[in-house]
Amino acid sequence: MLGSHTYLEFQPTGYLHMASLQSSPAWKALKAHHKKYAGLHMRDLFDADENRFEDFSLCLGGLFLDYSKNRVTKETMSLLIDLAKAADVEGWRRDMVAGEPINTTEDRAALHVALRNPLDHAPMQAMGEDVMPDVRALRIKMRGTADAIRSGAWTGATGSAIAAIVHIGTGGSHLGPEMVTQSLAPVHQSAPGGPAMHFISNVDGVQITTALDGLTPETTLFIVASKTFTTEETITNARTAKAWLVDALGSDAVANHFIAVSGNTQAVADFGIPPDNTFDLWDWVGGRYSVWSAIGLPIAIALGMDVFEEFLAGAHDMDRHFQDAPLDANMPVILGLIGVWNTDFLGSPALAILPYDEGLRGLPDYLRQLEMESNGKARDTKGRPVEVGTAPVIFGDPGTRGQHAFYQALHQGRQLIACDFIAPMESRHTTGSHHDRLLANFLAQTEALMKGRTEAEAVAAMEDQGVASAEMKGQLPHRIFEGNRPSNSIVADKFDAFTLGQLIALYEHKVFVQAVVWGINPFDQWGVEWGKELAAQILFEMEPDSYEAFSQEHCSSTLGLIARLKAHKAKTP
Ligand code: F6P
Repeated sequence: MLGSHTYLEFQPTGYLHMASLQSSPAWKALKAHHKKYAGLHMRDLFDADENRFEDFSLCLGGLFLDYSKNRVTKETMSLLIDLAKAADVEGWRRDMVAGEPINTTEDRAALHVALRNPLDHAPMQAMGEDVMPDVRALRIKMRGTADAIRSGAWTGATGSAIAAIVHIGTGGSHLGPEMVTQSLAPVHQSAPGGPAMHFISNVDGVQITTALDGLTPETTLFIVASKTFTTEETITNARTAKAWLVDALGSDAVANHFIAVSGNTQAVADFGIPPDNTFDLWDWVGGRYSVWSAIGLPIAIALGMDVFEEFLAGAHDMDRHFQDAPLDANMPVILGLIGVWNTDFLGSPALAILPYDEGLRGLPDYLRQLEMESNGKARDTKGRPVEVGTAPVIFGDPGTRGQHAFYQALHQGRQLIACDFIAPMESRHTTGSHHDRLLANFLAQTEALMKGRTEAEAVAAMEDQGVASAEMKGQLPHRIFEGNRPSNSIVADKFDAFTLGQLIALYEHKVFVQAVVWGINPFDQWGVEWGKELAAQILFEMEPDSYEAFSQEHCSSTLGLIARLKAHKAKTP
């Protein structure tokens, strides 16, 4: 559609972005529709249409999306598809895959799809340059490194095989590898095991100190993952790790015990990690979209490169579906539009991510960064205020743990909170009836949220339970559930590397679709920068004699806290 453009030439498409979103015909039509059907209850929608489940669900291989338990009708979906067309989701999708600079504020492509492109496929270009030769070379180097570590051919400075990997990174350079490794490890228990994995992501020294306390320098390998190699937290942890290693084995040992994944090769070299141990990261790969790159090296080391490539293949499968399927049968498009409906028309400020799979316990955190760092923006691509709600607050916990923590608020709280329930039909284990019980809870929760419980049903339940009639009146209002609370159910045949790849790519493209509708750039994160700059300044000001000179720049709260901190430091040895 567009040739290769630079940022200044690249013009976002879609008429929504020329006018204000709320004054566009597509948005106004949805507003009117919402007003007309505001009183609709999902119970009635199910009663009126016996095919609702078939009509409001989609399947891609082993991954199934049921979106029937949302407050939508066929007309709602059709108006939402009109909105996607008006925003030119199809054009933006083509531009993304064509490697156009759709990350407009940084003048970069966002071509993470190339990282999971099969190696025998056609070239893929980022701003006019074929990236596939680099991707090919990366996969070969990852396989060689993972195999060498797993087989024991990679040895430490004293000739011992590697028994433990300490991965140091944060945000997009941490969440993906940990989440995927956790999710898939039990499935592949019978495969020859890789080394033990430790993930360090917090600058709080407790985390790295605790990890190092249990490790032996001779058999420990560090991976420092940082796209910029300037992230203070990661570099501080990496320096602590290096000092620990050098103290035990001398500075020559760094070459055998450190690997870097970074786009800043100069900073890596300055740190002392040799080029052979350095994996490149390109500017067309955003941090929270980078698990498919060498950032995923811990996955290949822990589970084998074949597993990592299955994970890539699953994501590629979703990429093809996203590119080829018509909008009204397109899983990421449907999931994205349902999210826009829930956020902006039903007023849901949050999305609960509820995996009924212990392996996926890292998924809520992973998706929290993906959604909130991508779409937590208040300006559109042209710098104008966005008039509507954007990224919801993402939170969650695996079922059934979450049920005993926050589901009360999902069922009866004053805020409407949309939910994504995620479950595998087949478990990683065959222990007793655990999996059936887990799935029964998953199904029960989605139905209870949808149906609620009427007064008559609450009375009948109390009678069944033998509640004394004197107590019934008092309990009744508390036992009524209004229901009508929206949820998606995403069910996999099982969560293996392939379906997990599909699932993560599904959410990536969902976030992209929403960004296009809201007219924002999901690939930058300027909001994180200001806090980082201020932290660097305050660190300097916390030095014994240095802060008075800057004091006028802070509010009295910050000044008071700095003073209290300094006074405490002065008292402590
Ligand atoms: O949190 C801000 C951020 O820039 C994320 O986007 C990124 O994933 C993370 O920091 C880590 O950045 P880096 O890989 O450069 O250390």
